[in-house]
Amino acid sequence: MTTPAQDGWAAFPELPAGFRFGAATAAYQIEGAHQEDGRGPSVWDTFSHTPGRTHGGATGDAACDHYHRHPEDVALLRELGVDGYRFSISWPRLLPEGTGPVNPKGLDFYDRLIDDLLAVGVAPTVTLYHWDLPQALEDRGGWRVRATAEAFAAYAALAAERYGDRVERWITLNEPYCSAFVGYAEGRHAPGAREGRGALAAAHHLLVGHGLAVRELRAAGVGEVGITLNLDRVHAASTLPEDLAAKRRATTLHNEIWTEPLFAGRYPAYERQTWGGLADGPWRRADDLELIGAPLDFLGVNFYRPITVAAAAHRAADPEQRTAVDIGVTELDPYRTRHTTMGWPVVPKAFTELLCELHRRHPQLPPVWITENGTAEADTLTADGLVHDAQRIDYLAEHLAAVAEAVAAGVDVRGYYVWSLLDNFEWARGYEQRFGLVHVDFDTLTRTPKDSYHWFRGLITAHRARTEEPAR
Ligand code: FCB
Repeated sequence: MTTPAQDGWAAFPELPAGFRFGAATAAYQIEGAHQEDGRGPSVWDTFSHTPGRTHGGATGDAACDHYHRHPEDVALLRELGVDGYRFSISWPRLLPEGTGPVNPKGLDFYDRLIDDLLAVGVAPTVTLYHWDLPQALEDRGGWRVRATAEAFAAYAALAAERYGDRVERWITLNEPYCSAFVGYAEGRHAPGAREGRGALAAAHHLLVGHGLAVRELRAAGVGEVGITLNLDRVHAASTLPEDLAAKRRATTLHNEIWTEPLFAGRYPAYERQTWGGLADGPWRRADDLELIGAPLDFLGVNFYRPITVAAAAHRAADPEQRTAVDIGVTELDPYRTRHTTMGWPVVPKAFTELLCELHRRHPQLPPVWITENGTAEADTLTADGLVHDAQRIDYLAEHLAAVAEAVAAGVDVRGYYVWSLLDNFEWARGYEQRFGLVHVDFDTLTRTPKDSYHWFRGLITAHRARTEEPAR
């Protein structure tokens, strides 16, 4: 195995005692069984079945067939020795129409999963919304309308009532930036819309939905409640004033329109001066900011890579890359470093910088959990029946070291979840992008732990030994 030598752990940056390790997935990316046991369609079913929307026409119809193979996947988690597992509940599996009649078989599925996890000592973290909006709600306006936020709260209440006694940590939304802007402005994700105003309305309603769901989760008395954001470390392409201004616009859209209302009770002043849709849009109600800013127990952060932006006006902007909320920004890639198969540059120090910057800007920030970090690589099963993914090991080691550096600098990070447990349906990029610690053969659905899986297990064991936590 090409993992760092076992004696290499002594040199690995220390993380605090009690730091938690886990792996993450999302329902539509792994479950399959898209028409089984009463599940309703989601926007991702519609989108992936629309010709030309996903790489090679891939869909999540079968995915990893986790719906049927979850006992095997729970066993993989147990063997991995993780403290926790982050998965998402499929809203249309519980409520096929988004609202109204409940699907008991859907409820039972997550009951079994949660109980199986607990039986092997793996703490469940639930994401309520990882992008699979029930199609019936999209047909009535989707996130453009407030009724969807209200429906989300009712769904959150249902899940909390059923699973609240056993789930330690609850994430309302995963990456609302992507739901709003990649889904409703760029159109690269479901529902594939290219609208400016619609995306701003969606951003606001996602936050309102978060606030309403938090209220329901609190009322049900569940454990910890938070949200997961994909915050970006944004670099300017140059020190020209127009590029610095582009950086300001991108930072506002990617980060501050989420962090400011959640942690400072306001939309950023810059947003009001430029787009104004969030601060002053007709969809905004008087007490929305109070609702959105209700205290959280943690913030989930997903990180993969930094971005560099330039003003679109004086660079040849690729119209395909521009959001329909036209912020006059184009993305460049000046990083002279290795790139993953997603085309993403590997820049671990950007992770430390992002976490430290977040901490500086928001002194009142709740504890941070890294809810996703990982890499897609050109993994192959070799003749020995194994997957030697040395580059993934390097990526994870460097990014964990970057987290350790942020912790040493005073950022309160409590845990780190690898994206992902399994190779899976990587949204519009289909099945060619492999992010898993476990290789999945999509013809036979055979699971094969990669070298990185064994490496991660070694890391967790070494951490427990070093901090004198009992081995598992
Ligand atoms: C994140 C998503 C996750 C996965 C990774 C690679 O944006 O939350 O589902 O696709 O990217």
